[in-house]
Amino acid sequence: MAGRQWDPEQYNRFAAEREQPFWDLASLLDPVPAPRVADLGCGDGRLTSALHHRIGARMTTGVDLSEEMLAAAGPHAEPDVRFIRADIAAWTGPAVDVVMSNAALQWVPDHRAVLERWRQGLAAGGQLAVQVPANADHPSHRVARELADEWLGPDAPPDPVAVNVLRPVDYAELLDSLGFVRQHVRLQVYVHRLRHPAEVVEWTKGTSLTRLRGALGPERHARFVDEYRRRLIEVLGERAPYLYTFQRILLWGRLP
Ligand SMILES: C[S@@+](CC[C@H](N)C(=O)[O-])C[C@H]1O[C@@H](n2cnc3c(N)ncnc32)[C@H](O)[C@@H]1O
Repeated sequence: MAGRQWDPEQYNRFAAEREQPFWDLASLLDPVPAPRVADLGCGDGRLTSALHHRIGARMTTGVDLSEEMLAAAGPHAEPDVRFIRADIAAWTGPAVDVVMSNAALQWVPDHRAVLERWRQGLAAGGQLAVQVPANADHPSHRVARELADEWLGPDAPPDPVAVNVLRPVDYAELLDSLGFVRQHVRLQVYVHRLRHPAEVVEWTKGTSLTRLRGALGPERHARFVDEYRRRLIEVLGERAPYLYTFQRILLWGRLP
């Protein structure tokens, strides 16, 4: 996480596409009256606030480490929607009825230990809903990894999706071992119709490639992105439109 800079504007270039998994995840929640909610890795807070109102939450806390994201979240704060700066890897409460985390857990290692901590922050009957990308095999991620290894060698920051994300069956077993008596775990393929393979670069620039900005510095990072674009188009071909397939794992569990 150190040295990574988030750009809310770049992240939101594909806001509609990124939003769909959030609401698919939210639809897994059992309706409960006036829940207390923690949104871990809340980003710019727009979806945090929308969820708060949609499910009639009593109190919602968005948690993020990025100053840029928290600055963008500021306008979404209300008396019962607040945003705090903290590391989601260490979050254990105060107790809530719903832990929601969309596209953030992949950034931290040791999901077994982290989900055990998140479980400690759930009240009786509490629900955990988490979505993580599982697209490490796609050329969009593979080419970036290969190039990062060439440019940075052993100093290349690892691709978090490749090193941190478990298999769907691992999450199912983990939820069970943590005492979630009901659960739903699935792998879902989202399809994004992009105008051209080059648009994939605009996508990854807002997420996965942010890990390389600190290690490369701004000027080298810009050259890296140009080379990444060239290689990716070579691999994917000049296809217009381009169907970007994106695998994601959605998991939900409920405590007794
Ligand atoms: C891809 S964004 C997702 C934002 C939001 N959940 C959404 O769906 O729009 C990932 C967010 O996780 C945050 N994040 C990553 N690692 C974190 C950590 N260890 N602690 C807190 N936030 C973290 C980033 O700052 C970023 O805002």
